[in-house]
Amino acid sequence: MKQRNKSKFFTENLLKWNKESNRRGMPWKFEKDPYKIWLSEIILQQTRVEQGTGYYNRFVKKYPYINKLAAADEREVFKLWEGLGYYSRCKNLIYTAKYISENYNGKFPEDYNDILKLKGIGPYTAAAISSFAYNQPYAVLDGNVMRILSRFFGISTPIDSNEGKKIFTELAQDLLDKNNSAAYNQAIMDFGATVCKPQLASCKNCLLSTKCTAYKTKSVELYPVKAKKINKKTRWFNYIIISYKDKIYVRKRSGGDIWQNLHDFYLMETTEKISIEELVRSEPFISVIGKQFRLTHGSDYFKQQLTHQTIYGCFALIELKKSINLPGYEPVSRKSLKSLSFPKLINSFLEKEILQ
Ligand code: ADE
Repeated sequence: MKQRNKSKFFTENLLKWNKESNRRGMPWKFEKDPYKIWLSEIILQQTRVEQGTGYYNRFVKKYPYINKLAAADEREVFKLWEGLGYYSRCKNLIYTAKYISENYNGKFPEDYNDILKLKGIGPYTAAAISSFAYNQPYAVLDGNVMRILSRFFGISTPIDSNEGKKIFTELAQDLLDKNNSAAYNQAIMDFGATVCKPQLASCKNCLLSTKCTAYKTKSVELYPVKAKKINKKTRWFNYIIISYKDKIYVRKRSGGDIWQNLHDFYLMETTEKISIEELVRSEPFISVIGKQFRLTHGSDYFKQQLTHQTIYGCFALIELKKSINLPGYEPVSRKSLKSLSFPKLINSFLEKEILQ
């Protein structure tokens, strides 16, 4: 299918879906007052619709027009914002309300470039305001829109690359129904939130699926492509080097992972960074090792980068006051540690702090 036809199909069917099946109701939908649209877009910049709705309603009620917000006691505005976080949004909101009050007589500017110059407003928000309020032909573009476009058109250029940004910006603008910008922009936002979702996309009932490249090639989950993979798993390995009378408890790892047959020490894995003091006071620690010990050393973190995960390891040295039964672990002499093989992470520590 030619790109032109495919683009036409996309726009027509997105609008058809919007007309026939889009059930998303939100208080700012169909709003024409640029002030209220602006307010809703700032709230939604880092907040989910469900959480933002109450705040939007309270703001509109208390400050129904710009000059009212511009003249408000700032402490009261911040109080109303409380709980939403990212307070720079609120600070910019107040600043821009005052700016519009002083420079535009309290009337929101109409020109896209004037809107874009306002503090706290980037291209996405400027496109949303100018299309919703004035039907001006500016397409919104964010991660949600890029996800939809990358899937439908099968674009593998990373969305976080300069080339990707250029491709998606041009494509988004090209797809926009210029006579129907408000409906189109709202449709693509709602479509991303309810159909072409990041996880568990609703492809079975999607009007666009017959011509969606990702769907046809069974690769919906592979889009959008990102250059920087930020979702690598991070693990925290807290090793306890337990000694009793010059012997150290060591085990040989089984269980078919990459460290199989290598040795290690008593391991307590956590999903977050945790201090050694906290660890040795914890219930899982005490239930295995008890309280009859002396903590003699705590190391910094050592890092090992694997293909799909980053492991941070730290080491606590404890001296037992009486021996314990630790199934799977064997007490070995300090000297014989040198002849055992350990994962790189543990060797880094041993070479730096134990075997030097
Ligand atoms: N996210 C950002 N702007 C939005 C809007 N106008 N409607 C729904 N979700 C949004």
